[in-house]
Amino acid sequence: MNRLFLPRLLPALLAAALLAACVQTPPAQSLSAQASSSPSTGPDTAPTLAAQQERERYVSELMQRMTLQEKIGQLRLRSVDAGPNVDKEALLQEIRSGQVGAIFNTVTRPGMRVLQDAAMQSRLKVPLFFAYDVIHGHRTVFPIGLGLASSFDMDAIARSGRISAIEANADGLNMTFAPMVDISRDPRWGRNSEGYGEDTYLTSRIGATLVKALQGDDPSQPGTIMAAVKHFAMYGAIEGARDYNTVDMSPQRMYQDYLPPYKAAIDAGAAGVMVALNAVNGVPATADPWLLQELLRKQWGFKGITVSDHGAILELIRHGVAADGRDAARLAIKAGTDLSMNDKVYGKDLEPLVESGEVSMAEIDEAVRHVLRVKYDLGLFRDAYRHIGRAEDDPADTEAESRLHRADAREVARRSLVLLKNEGDTLPLKKQGTIAVIGPLAKSQRDVMGNWSAAGKARQAVSVYQGLAEATAGRATLLYAKGANVIDDAEVVTYLNEFEKDVEVDSRTAEAMIAEAVQAARKADVVLAVVGESQGMAHEASSRTDIVIPESQRRLLHALKATGKPLVIVLMNGRPLALEWEHANADAMLETWFAGTEGGHAIADVLFGDYNPSGKLPMTFPRVVGQVPLYYNHLNTGRPFDPENPNKYTSRYFDHENGPLYPFGYGLSYTTFDVSDVKLSRAEMARGGQLTASATIRNTGRRDGETVVQLYVQDPVASISRPVRELKGFSKIFLKAGESREVSFEIGDEQLGFYNAQGRFNVEPGKFNVFLGLDSRAAQSASFTLH
Ligand code: NOJ
Repeated sequence: MNRLFLPRLLPALLAAALLAACVQTPPAQSLSAQASSSPSTGPDTAPTLAAQQERERYVSELMQRMTLQEKIGQLRLRSVDAGPNVDKEALLQEIRSGQVGAIFNTVTRPGMRVLQDAAMQSRLKVPLFFAYDVIHGHRTVFPIGLGLASSFDMDAIARSGRISAIEANADGLNMTFAPMVDISRDPRWGRNSEGYGEDTYLTSRIGATLVKALQGDDPSQPGTIMAAVKHFAMYGAIEGARDYNTVDMSPQRMYQDYLPPYKAAIDAGAAGVMVALNAVNGVPATADPWLLQELLRKQWGFKGITVSDHGAILELIRHGVAADGRDAARLAIKAGTDLSMNDKVYGKDLEPLVESGEVSMAEIDEAVRHVLRVKYDLGLFRDAYRHIGRAEDDPADTEAESRLHRADAREVARRSLVLLKNEGDTLPLKKQGTIAVIGPLAKSQRDVMGNWSAAGKARQAVSVYQGLAEATAGRATLLYAKGANVIDDAEVVTYLNEFEKDVEVDSRTAEAMIAEAVQAARKADVVLAVVGESQGMAHEASSRTDIVIPESQRRLLHALKATGKPLVIVLMNGRPLALEWEHANADAMLETWFAGTEGGHAIADVLFGDYNPSGKLPMTFPRVVGQVPLYYNHLNTGRPFDPENPNKYTSRYFDHENGPLYPFGYGLSYTTFDVSDVKLSRAEMARGGQLTASATIRNTGRRDGETVVQLYVQDPVASISRPVRELKGFSKIFLKAGESREVSFEIGDEQLGFYNAQGRFNVEPGKFNVFLGLDSRAAQSASFTLH
């Protein structure tokens, strides 16, 4: 059930009394309504229900006073980014005349105040709310989504969400377009960086965790913002991973693999849903009544607001389902798209559509009600400046160092790093001798923050070099050389630099840069090569046909390898990369994704062993791009490939190995762990029952450390073919050197059933296999029978 944001502090007996205090002051014209605002329900009614009824009464009363134009105004979300083309006076006039419902891209309280002042001059004084893309941090930037997911640490992820909300709300913001829970199985997509990887269960857990962390119990309270989960739906399954492309998917896969994370976020109480730009099975999401009404509202009970993606309504024309803007507006509103982002058509076309009878007033009212509910829940009718605050309390410097949460960012970031290889215990490094730090990303403060870094400032980010320099100050000598440009392809550089300076091109020749790097490497005891992608290469509109490290940097790596010095590759990237050469040639390799404001410190912590890495991959790393989509929870096929017995007519490639380079759930530590004694509490169970799967995990190495114990389940014989295994639980545990602990997981219908093509959840009797281990190859297994 969709949870509503209503005061839940009220014990039942005090409900009636306290409710009066919670009743929001209606706009001036409806002050009389206050007199009759006492709850119509008695004190025995659950306070949430009473408050819910009060909210509906309030919203209905307000809507009765609104003209059609004012209602339509509530459905318009305007982007105000103070760019040169924004005509502020015209916008203020639109707001004053009740033609704007909400604003995004304004991130300072003074900016919002001017806009809210205009709303307070409108006839009904309906307040604006303010939204922004707070994706992985606000002023303090945390690791990108894939990094957060790699932590497998719900406390750390919640902490990133709480701090994002505190910082964003301190800037007056009310809503973020996050979390993004689009499952993706294709690393070519640039937006993998924003999401949490390929797994449905992990992504669902993270989505729910973040929604709760961002929203808290009551979004009218300071330190909270509403979450609009996105992109509904299935954006991560676009064909060929080419951004904005089409999705065509079986209902079975949709229900089982792609939809649950959105549902989990909604069940956690997400106030909003952002509608995807893509079409699903031929129907653009923005114009899909099945998706936005039947599934979202009727089946899932969603009560919040749906927001179109940027310009998506007008794009219905190019999708080929709308003849013109008017047609697009008609389709979108009838489908259930409430708020029009960067509106071009709702403002112009909805009114004539209602007048002609093509759109009913009831359809407009439904959308307006959703918007007004959000404003009510935010407490904006009580006080339109509730989150913006008073001018005298505005921060003197919005970018002040004191507004950052560096310690939290460092703690979360170090938990997000994944050790991919560590031959001969190359890592951790000692803080002594000479270390050559080489690579175009080593000194970059912009890249370490990653894309969608919101209000974060690059100059406040800690580069890898800076982190290493601070960690070794007075103890080791650091040498530095850029070694290569991130990429040498001039056309790609132009593309990446179009809207934001992404790639800094060094005018020296590639040979000269490599020569300088080699010289530094020769003088060093160990080489740290900080290579990968610029942040803009793993972003919206950043799909790639290949997923290798760009050629300029690969040439650098080859040259560094040739020096014979120990080579540690520190990767920065926002998608799985194909790293066969790097795996074969590096002595050690650390995946750092884009680790955020404190990235450099966190990376140094891990490289020097001040933190023992514990991250695990949330996405499969293929060997070569031709293998994609490659994911761990695939079906077996009728002719599975068996590496022990590699027959010709099996499901395989003849020119490359079948399996991944690094499987889902994989990641090393500076210590070692052993899993033993996997057992189930019972060998037989009836449907509806519960059993416990447990195993003993031992830290068999010489360092304390954390690992992620993973539970996978397989239904080997079912009415339809089921995956070879699916993640159904995980637990991140800390063990001292030599320590062992039993870890257990409950298994019941939820872990055993699956959705069929009609969206029904089935739990079928028969044998089930249970695997417990430290990555998706977990071999330790047990079985039971379900009756
Ligand atoms: C387009 C993106 O697809 C979406 O994720 C984002 O929230 C909006 N732009 C607003 O910036």
